[in-house]
Amino acid sequence: MCGIVAAVSAGGDVAGDVLAGLRTLEYRGYDSAGIAVLADGGIEVRRKMGKIAVLERELAARALPPSPLALAHTRWATHGAPADRNAHPHTDDAGAVVVVHNGIIENYRELRGLLQAQGHAFRSETDTEVLAHLIGHLLREDGDLHRAVRRALDRVHGAYALVAAAAGRPDLLVAARRDSPLVIGLAEGACYAASDMPALLHRTRDFLVLENGETAVLTPNGAVLYDGAGRPVERPPVRCDWTPEQAEKGGYPHFMLKEIEEQPDVLARTAFDRLRDDEGDVEFEPGFDLDDQALAGFRRLRFMAMGTSFHAALLGKLMLEELAALPGDTLNASEFLYSPRLPEEDALTVVISQSGETADSLRAMREVQARGGRVLGVCNVRGATLEREADHVILTHCGPEVGVASTKAFFGQVTALYLLALRVGRARGVIDRDRGRELLADLRRLRPRLDALFGPATAAPLAAAAELLAPAAGCLFLGRCLNHPIALEGALKLKEISYIHAEGYPAGEMKHGPIALISPEFPVVAIATPGRTHDKMLSNIEEVKARAGRVIAVGLADDRRLAELADVVLPVPEVPELLSPLVNVIPLQRLAYETARRLGREIDQPRNLAKSVTVE
Ligand code: G6P
Repeated sequence: MCGIVAAVSAGGDVAGDVLAGLRTLEYRGYDSAGIAVLADGGIEVRRKMGKIAVLERELAARALPPSPLALAHTRWATHGAPADRNAHPHTDDAGAVVVVHNGIIENYRELRGLLQAQGHAFRSETDTEVLAHLIGHLLREDGDLHRAVRRALDRVHGAYALVAAAAGRPDLLVAARRDSPLVIGLAEGACYAASDMPALLHRTRDFLVLENGETAVLTPNGAVLYDGAGRPVERPPVRCDWTPEQAEKGGYPHFMLKEIEEQPDVLARTAFDRLRDDEGDVEFEPGFDLDDQALAGFRRLRFMAMGTSFHAALLGKLMLEELAALPGDTLNASEFLYSPRLPEEDALTVVISQSGETADSLRAMREVQARGGRVLGVCNVRGATLEREADHVILTHCGPEVGVASTKAFFGQVTALYLLALRVGRARGVIDRDRGRELLADLRRLRPRLDALFGPATAAPLAAAAELLAPAAGCLFLGRCLNHPIALEGALKLKEISYIHAEGYPAGEMKHGPIALISPEFPVVAIATPGRTHDKMLSNIEEVKARAGRVIAVGLADDRRLAELADVVLPVPEVPELLSPLVNVIPLQRLAYETARRLGREIDQPRNLAKSVTVE
């Protein structure tokens, strides 16, 4: 994961500031930490394997000179084992450039080979050191750090948030971002960069959030942003208040809307640092602690959760069966207590909870453990009870979710469960390296495709669908196979925030009862994206239309048959069927939001609900 903090100020010493911010980012990685400052025309680095406390002891023993510029990093190893030499910051061999980086440079081997051929010697196994050398090499050519960073990034494939500085320029930092988060903090006489806002709240509430593909030049006087083509970008800063909730709201009218729009970033944050693209495999942080042998030893996996997380659990089971050919079962966590005691030794129970504090889910976890079973917690909040008490942990890294109706946390959970299913499939030998690579490439390709879900072409159909739903007394959400849980989630979102009664059903079940409800006043939302269920979904839509029902469909914009049948099509991009739930849930979240907004509902705090339900 890795956390970054950097500062440049008009004078004084910023190392203390930077370390204070770094401590709040330790949740992002903690196998090593480091800091660099500029002094006497050169770069001074301290970096140590272990937690930030180890680095602090090193700094007490070998103090850094005071410096108006500092960059710091807390690492979660991707390339190269945790070791002092692999810890960030990294410099080039001339000691002219220093870099901190979060993400993965996919083509680092190729770049390293090219640089070695030109005489560069490397001291670590990291992809980041390659970046430092490449930037240093280009800096020597024309002396401009921003240009050198941009030219280096033109040659790089992968995900990054990075900050660079050059020896002899204590007034300048260059930052860049693609797929990994980075914010810029603005203060009087100083400018900061960090992986998240809370890391800088001790110094500023004014932030510029760097967008994908942008770079920034930071000086004590402020920051100038540049787009991918190198054109300056004007963007007013976002003002943060002190409470964490407000700090996350930005300019959005509701947290829910912001969190819906954050989902493309959630994909990168939950998944990308964990992908071992070359091996076609996934590597979780040490808290996961299940090796191939342990994973291959389980005869079944059980998925338990509540609310929206329960819908992720349903998908977890389906993905496990698809990718690992292992039976899964799903149980609402509140029901487990009453279930008969079956042998647990050969099973792994996956408990999924955004907050990690939901009482029913915790109770189920403890009951599994009391029966001799092991629990893998999938959780968004570091330090939550689920994270602390589960035997194994996957953090979803979605960032704080404030809207009561869960959106981005669900997206992160489903992403994590896809990774888990793939990992189990690899451990069991069901997925070979080539297939693993394809599945990871599918996930990486999904990121840019998600942008289409928020594009201008989605606005008119969304408005038409919300107009159609707002006066309805109730409605039905239909999906099949991997999109049955998405139908359930779409219905839950709508009822939670609009108070319109909505039911999710497997579409095949419609004829066994719900069809009696169909009328012009009782619309149907049908998920009809490509895949093995597409034809059957179109048949279901025909059946609804034959009974004067109105249909909002989620499907491809160029699906002619669907366009002819449905009253409105919420367009989605085409993606592999296994990833379609991640795409299809987004228009349904937006539909719930738009409908609730038309009805004037309290979107972020719907009546009678709570974000974290801590009673059984
Ligand atoms: C509450 C929230 C839901 C959430 C559920 C489970 O009902 O309103 O949005 O899905 O709790 O929460 P958890 O934190 O365990 O995922």
